Order: sequence, then C-alpha cells, then structure tokens
Amino acid sequence: MSCAHGLMQNETAFAIDASRIVFGAGVLGEIGEQAKALGAKRVALFTDRTVGKLEHVARARKSLQNASIDVAVYDAVHVEPTDASFLDAAQFAREGRFDAYVSIGGGSTIDTCKAASLYATFPAEFLDYVNAPVGAAKPVPGALPPHIACPTTCGTGSETTGIAVCDVLSLKAKTGIASARLRPSLALVDPACTYTLPPEVVAASGFDVLCHALESFTARPFSSRARGLPRPMSQGANPWSDLGSREALRIGGESLVAAVEGSEKARDQLAWAATLAGVAFGNAGVHIPHAMAYAVAGLVRDFRMKGYPQEEAMVPHGVSVVLNAPSAFRFTAQTNPERHRIAAEMLGGRDGDLAGALETLMNKAGVPVTLRAVGYSKGDVPALVKGTIVQKRLLSNAPRDVGEAELVELFEGAL
Ligand SMILES: [Fe+2]
Repeated sequence: MSCAHGLMQNETAFAIDASRIVFGAGVLGEIGEQAKALGAKRVALFTDRTVGKLEHVARARKSLQNASIDVAVYDAVHVEPTDASFLDAAQFAREGRFDAYVSIGGGSTIDTCKAASLYATFPAEFLDYVNAPVGAAKPVPGALPPHIACPTTCGTGSETTGIAVCDVLSLKAKTGIASARLRPSLALVDPACTYTLPPEVVAASGFDVLCHALESFTARPFSSRARGLPRPMSQGANPWSDLGSREALRIGGESLVAAVEGSEKARDQLAWAATLAGVAFGNAGVHIPHAMAYAVAGLVRDFRMKGYPQEEAMVPHGVSVVLNAPSAFRFTAQTNPERHRIAAEMLGGRDGDLAGALETLMNKAGVPVTLRAVGYSKGDVPALVKGTIVQKRLLSNAPRDVGEAELVELFEGAL
C-alpha cells in the first residue's frame, strides 16, 4: 500500500542484525578465552551487589585472570537504573581506562554496562543520546569497545539488543537509549546461572520473555513502514523475528511453569526461549504492553514482590509488562486474528483466546494478574496514561493506532 500522493514508498526489505551468542550450561567458565579473543587486556566487570556475591562472578573473574586479563569490578549497579546510576557507572568506566567490558546480571546490569561504555567512550550531555522526545536521540558516533554480556536471569534479552533503559529522575520519565552500537559483541548465555533463582524471579522474567515474543510477533508488519534509511532497529514484525518469536513461544509455553517450580531442564529451555525472544525483539521491537509497563513500574507506591530486594517498592519488569498484556492483546486481536490464535495455542490456550491463555498461565505461575493486585485503582488511570503516551517509539510499533482514549480503555481493562 502506498500513500495517495505516491510520495511515500512502503518498506520492502528487512535487516538482520544478529548477535554473536554462545549458549549452554557452564559457558561462563570460558569467558577468559572469549575476552582474550576479542583483544581484551583490561576489563571492567559490571554486576550488582546481590549477584556480585554469587559464585558466577567469582568463576568469571577466575577465568579472566587465568587468561592474564586485568579485572576491575563495579558492583554498584542500581536495579532499575536511573540517569544518575548510569552516570556513576560511566565515571568508573572513564577513570579505569578499560579496553573491554563484561556484564554479569539481569537487564539492569547489562544496560548499565552499555551506557557506561557509551558515555566513557563518547562523552556527552546525558540527554544527548536518550530517545526522543525526552532526549535528543543523537546517533552514537562510532563503535564501542568489546562487551561480553552474561545474563543471570532468563528474561530481559538485553544481551542481544542495542537498548539500555533507565529512569530520568528529574523528569520522572522511564526511557532509554537505542542504538545498534550498544549491542554487546558477545552474549555468553549460561543457563546454570538460573538454577538458584527464586521461583518468583523466574516467573517474572519468564513472562517478560513471553511478552517479547508476543509483542514482536504481533507488532505492525515491517512492510507497513515508509521506506527510508537507516532502517530503525524496531522494524516491526518480519520473517526473521517471526522465526525467533514462534520458537520462543513454543518453548516458553511448554517450560515456564516447570521452570518456576524448579526444574533445571525447564530453566535451560526457558533461557533458550529468552535468547530467541531477545533476538526477535531486537529486530522487530515490542509495543503496547511494554509501553504501559514503563508507567506501571514508574508510579509504584508500595508494592513489593517476594524473591526481590524488599528495601524499595518495585514492580519487577516482567510483572509490570504482563499485567497489561491480556488487555493489550484483546485490543490488538482484530488486527491479525490468525497470529493471535497461533500464539494462544503455543501457550496452551484451546479456543484461540490469547488474553485468556495468558491469564491462565499467570495464575499457574503465581504472578499478580491485575493492576489492582500491585496497588493501582481507577483513580490512577490518568497518571498511567500520561506516563505511557510519551513512549512513542513503542506505541508506533503497535499494529493499531493508540492515543489517549485507547490507553484509558487499555488500563481500565488491565485493572
Ligand atoms: Fe522486557
């Protein structure tokens, strides 16, 4: 379909920006050799205080040291990073004069490492690289040093994407930086890191995986965009992302509940689904549930989830996303009933009802199913809508137009 004036040509091609991935139980032990192959001599290792105390980090350090690589550890990563925490990490990176980066942890850690490397390598005002309209969305000027990302949860997919998410505290906005140059040079995915995770963390991150796959699969088709270079990372659903999304849904649907219950085999499977879904959404982009999640996580009052640090109120990322998903997929179902039916079946649904299949799975996995369950009520809808409408990059990737009126309906549906 082209525009009435014939000026706009629709996209006919899609790009595959694949990550290098090494996947399998135990691969963290080869990080020294991998870093050496990338030319590393002095490495900054990013982690958070909880993961920093675990055996994974000790194992990785030993492997790096055995490869004669200098290691300096930064363990002050803020879970749910902010502009301030990104800049603190960047200062560490700048002062240490590192030639390579390693991140070991969840999405917050991997994202912090991406930002630290960016601001240490190409210093700028913080908002320069941040997505519009919050920031100036300036392009990253050149290649960043090698970064080996090692996820320890089975969720975020950050190890294969060029996205770093943070809260800009002064503006009370959750946004991020998106550039193919932020994509880690190597994702070292060791599912054994997930064997000791509390069930709640596996559940929350598992639903993040499913939503990455579901949103990539139901995003607006890449061919509906106007043709123009450079192609955005969020291209919309395309044959490459479909491949990852479908397989992630098949495996995720099969293994999520068993993974929550503690099966190591199922956790291996879920980690592979997370990797596939990360590859898919890194090329297709997510949409409404993630856009709404920014507001749900940002406006939290006093919800705390078992299995997570209890000092601060927090809705874990995967929960803040999946809470909106049934409402969002009821809204998008009409745009492509066939895809919604396929997805529902992969998740064990019988009657093609994707929203219903997700709710059943959420109940089985023991995560909150409504916004009310994490402390919101009808009076919060205007603020939630306000926090979501600014997520233009995500909303424009939805298969239907989403404005304020639609968001009111979507949040009321999620209550
Ligand atoms: Fe996510």
